Amino acid sequence: MFSFEGKKALVTGGGRGIGRAIAIALARQGADVAVAARGRSELEQVADEIRSVGRRSFVHALDLADTDAAVKMVDAAARELGSLDVLVNNAGGITDQPGSIGPLDEATLEAFDAMYAINVRTPLFASVAACRLMAMQGKGGAILNIVSIDGVFPAPTEGIYGSAKAALVNLTKVLAYEAGKDGIRVNAIAPGVIETRLTEHLLRTDEDRADRASFYPLNRVGVPDDIAAAAVYLCSGEAGWVSGNVLYVTGGQLATSDVFRWVRAKNPVPDSLKI
Ligand SMILES: NC(=O)c1ccc[n+]([C@@H]2O[C@H](COP(=O)([O-])OP(=O)(O)OC[C@H]3O[C@@H](n4cnc5c(N)ncnc54)[C@H](OP(=O)(O)O)[C@@H]3O)[C@@H](O)[C@H]2O)c1
Repeated sequence: MFSFEGKKALVTGGGRGIGRAIAIALARQGADVAVAARGRSELEQVADEIRSVGRRSFVHALDLADTDAAVKMVDAAARELGSLDVLVNNAGGITDQPGSIGPLDEATLEAFDAMYAINVRTPLFASVAACRLMAMQGKGGAILNIVSIDGVFPAPTEGIYGSAKAALVNLTKVLAYEAGKDGIRVNAIAPGVIETRLTEHLLRTDEDRADRASFYPLNRVGVPDDIAAAAVYLCSGEAGWVSGNVLYVTGGQLATSDVFRWVRAKNPVPDSLKI
């Protein structure tokens, strides 16, 4: 099961973190994988790792906030690989524009546009370009968007980020509907906190990590391979009847409402009330 033998994949943000783990996992399952991000040296390291498991790999160093360039890159990657079966829109996160994170009355137009460019506009138009190619190839395909739990639970101070991810959830479902006729499946993964550069500031000390871990029913924060395993499933033939879904990979967050968990943590049920 989960063989990608003969399949060709493109993973954006494949230089580190979640994207790197997905790219390497797909290669280990048999895919040739192109990776894209701004930093060439990280991409080259990942490409070398992919080649070391016997698969072909190509590197595209570009700023994916430039949607025109991203769309051209999809075509170029498909040409190099010979075809395109899987697109993973993983590049995203928080831009360094002032006003990207913080209360909405401090948000700036520049921050809004930058956050929506990388988290919504490019994944959408890259997906549309990939769908055209996949439809012409006539053998279906899989598109996976990496969204966030913040797109489901609105997070104060992360309104622009969360709303961008929520927009991408919506577009995932619309595209799943529209591309289904060509055998193309479109899904999303919503991670909780995963240890990557994006979350470094939350997990600086052992105490930080233990504190975060205690929030999750499974009592740990996530690692990139947690997302890679889910990505392999959703992009594989074994998920052939799964489309328009969001898979929450969140250590059990969502098992109960956050408010309920917070209330219970502060007010354990007294022995006198237990039955
Ligand atoms: N880590 C978490 O807890 C978490 C939780 C929920 C969702 N996510 C989502 O998961 C995805 C991956 O995040 P991560 O945690 O793996 O972050 P990361 O370690 O910072 O990696 C992000 C990757 O995306 C690339 N990238 C970022 N902006 C780019 C741009 N403008 N153009 C081209 N490439 C760009 C980065 O490379 P360059 O900087 O070299 O361009 C890097 O390869 C993001 O969409 C993020 O929103 C993460």
